[in-house]
Amino acid sequence: MEALQIIILVYLLYLIKLTYNELRKTKVEVGMPEQEFFTFREYMRKDQEILSASAEDYMEMIYRLSEETGFTRVNDLAAALNVQPPSVTKMIQKLADVHLLKYEKYGVIMLEPGGVKLGKTLLNRHNLIERFLSVLDIKDGLLESTEKMEHTISNEILLGLRDLTDFFDEYPEIKEQFLAFRRGKIKWTEP
Ligand code: FE2
Repeated sequence: MEALQIIILVYLLYLIKLTYNELRKTKVEVGMPEQEFFTFREYMRKDQEILSASAEDYMEMIYRLSEETGFTRVNDLAAALNVQPPSVTKMIQKLADVHLLKYEKYGVIMLEPGGVKLGKTLLNRHNLIERFLSVLDIKDGLLESTEKMEHTISNEILLGLRDLTDFFDEYPEIKEQFLAFRRGKIKWTEP
């Protein structure tokens, strides 16, 4: 009897290990890759006080705009951020001073390797928060809320949001149960 219990226990441990490995694999495939998340943690630790929220917006947008071509221009950036070109020039000079980008002739902006890493990290953070808010079915002001949250969210909370959205992606039937639960609740509590 005792031997049988041990066999069952070993088998259960084996099953737990298999499930754990599967979940880990899924997390890497579905969400922010581990390597990028590590970069994000590094960024949060070292540079958070250096870059203002506005500087983060610039870096994220420069990364978006130059993702395909490898560069962007002051005018395009000004239009994308809805600010005046002189304000862009000012900020660009600051970011060039800390070696995140190069500001070249004719308004051409090119990210330095560190800037590319940071830009990608910031874009990942943005996308993660937006994904999370979408799970909550937030439609009005989705972008605005994402923009506000991204500058204040902690590393730990971001990690939690990543895991939760990955979990819902992996188990859509549970996500559906959650959404049905919410729909019932909203109806119930509405005046
Ligand atoms: Fe953003």
